Amino acid sequence: MLKMAVLVSGGGTNLQAILDAIEEGRIANASVGVVISNNPGAYALERARSHGIEAVCVSPASYADRECYHGALVQTVQSYQVDLVVLAGCMVVMPKAMIEAYPDRIINIHPALIPSFCGTGFHGLSVHEKVLERGVKVTGATVHFVDEGTDTGPIILQKAVDVLQGDTPETLQRRVMEQAEWQILPRAIHLIANGKVSVEQGKVVIKE
Ligand code: GRF
Repeated sequence: MLKMAVLVSGGGTNLQAILDAIEEGRIANASVGVVISNNPGAYALERARSHGIEAVCVSPASYADRECYHGALVQTVQSYQVDLVVLAGCMVVMPKAMIEAYPDRIINIHPALIPSFCGTGFHGLSVHEKVLERGVKVTGATVHFVDEGTDTGPIILQKAVDVLQGDTPETLQRRVMEQAEWQILPRAIHLIANGKVSVEQGKVVIKE
């Protein structure tokens, strides 16, 4: 049984998609051991609690500096002895120590088709604002392993979503969440939990 720590910062719709997929059997052999947020007001923590899952806030505001915060975050995750760290709407850049503790065992959902519209400054709604500004006709979402770069780790799954005439950043974000993020993140977890994913020469190989 693969045990996960899910790291969140906001509404937790991706966490909800994971919980629903576990309940419906679309994710097998996996459980959420803990949900951790940097934001005490994250509704994602409420979603965890209502599912009887431990919900923990490790807030930067509680630590003297970034280094102390990073140390506390790594220690907290390690204390739950998880097999996989899932960044689900998490706005915290993972510290080097976390990447080293969980090599190829941290995954992230990014709301665009990497390598487009990613990297520093591309997160949440701003991704969709830039997609509309550029006028691309197709966007989507990517699940990837997290390495020391920003959105640069091996790509596990992607799903494309049409950009429609009249889209606003909000309508586009919602469609990307519904049609892509909430589909491919649970799918990636299911594949990893059932030994179907490996990384060979920096590329993900999936044995369906
Ligand atoms: C979503 O746009 C997600 O792609 C991004 O964070 C936003 C909020 O996610 N990573 P959630 O509703 O908190 O899962």
